[in-house]
Amino acid sequence: MTRSQEFNSATQETVLLTGATGYIGSRLLRRLEHGPQKVRCLVRRPEALSSVAALETEIVGVDLLQPETLPYAMRGVSTAYYLVHSMASGGDFALEDRKAATNFAQAALEAGVQRIVYLGGLGAGRYLSGHLASRREVGEILRNSGVPTIEFRASIIIGSGSLSFEMIRSLVEKLPVMLTPKWVHTKCQPIAIDDVLDYLVAVLDVAHTASSRSQVFEIGGPDRASYRDLMAEFARQRGLKRLLISVPVLSPQLSSLWLGLFTPVYARIGRKLVESLRNETVVVDKSAMEAFPIRPRGMADAVQRALDNEDRV
Ligand SMILES: NC(=O)c1ccc[n+]([C@@H]2O[C@H](COP(=O)([O-])OP(=O)(O)OC[C@H]3O[C@@H](n4cnc5c(N)ncnc54)[C@H](OP(=O)(O)O)[C@@H]3O)[C@@H](O)[C@H]2O)c1
Repeated sequence: MTRSQEFNSATQETVLLTGATGYIGSRLLRRLEHGPQKVRCLVRRPEALSSVAALETEIVGVDLLQPETLPYAMRGVSTAYYLVHSMASGGDFALEDRKAATNFAQAALEAGVQRIVYLGGLGAGRYLSGHLASRREVGEILRNSGVPTIEFRASIIIGSGSLSFEMIRSLVEKLPVMLTPKWVHTKCQPIAIDDVLDYLVAVLDVAHTASSRSQVFEIGGPDRASYRDLMAEFARQRGLKRLLISVPVLSPQLSSLWLGLFTPVYARIGRKLVESLRNETVVVDKSAMEAFPIRPRGMADAVQRALDNEDRV
């Protein structure tokens, strides 16, 4: 090790990344590993990461539902990313997410972590789905922890491998004629995965102090579109002719069943996601545009990028 390397490792900030085996976390890991910070990943299954993480990346095996393992992972951390959810768990995901976030927040406070960064979901109002309400609750737990928290809220994230995008892909690719339920008219505000990653990384350039306050930023691309528009755009770029016929009534149960039939890999999680499709997920508060120099790309561009990159994930 050279003297300057020794100096760097003594002064380098340590960033903690949770969810590094997940869709967003695994992509953020690649970005962080190119940055100047030391990266420590908190994962339940270290073996799932050891062959993909850089040699310098530290991997700590922790289950957030077992808080006794957390203090070690939090040592010396300045910024901690929270990119975890329990949707794939067979149990009560809202309960598990509440416990995991509470354990994480408490350990971060006790360890003197300076900032938490969380990516949650857009959507507001009294009739939020269980999934979106739980995402909202996790944000509240983190923001009320006493550790300054930056919460980003996003709608559907467009990228190859993103669960919601893969559901759209399965439906459009498998069904030449689709009887579409009411939710296909719900408005969302798609954002490309690369733009989401830009926001998550940009936070590291924002100065933070002990007096920094928690903030919420709603992020989305420039296009407000319905899920039907998104499916039509996907079909157009794939060169597929698709007929979408609206049916006035299709209950969430039938809708989930239908989705499960055509997107078998996502059947269990899909049911939780499809309940969220009734909620509009659009940006109302535009303060992210003032706070960050990021200008997210439009829906067509985002879809094209996802299709171009699909063989590289
Ligand atoms: N993907 C989207 O379209 C989208 C849109 C808007 C917002 N978001 C938000 O982005 C965040 C990340 O989502 P994602 O799509 O990347 O999720 P994901 O692919 O399902 O990944 C979830 C991660 O959480 C980890 N995890 C779950 N329970 C854990 C526990 N008890 N202890 C430690 N780790 C645990 C999983 O680890 P294992 O590998 O061990 O299971 C996995 O790495 C979420 O907050 C989500 O709400 C995503």
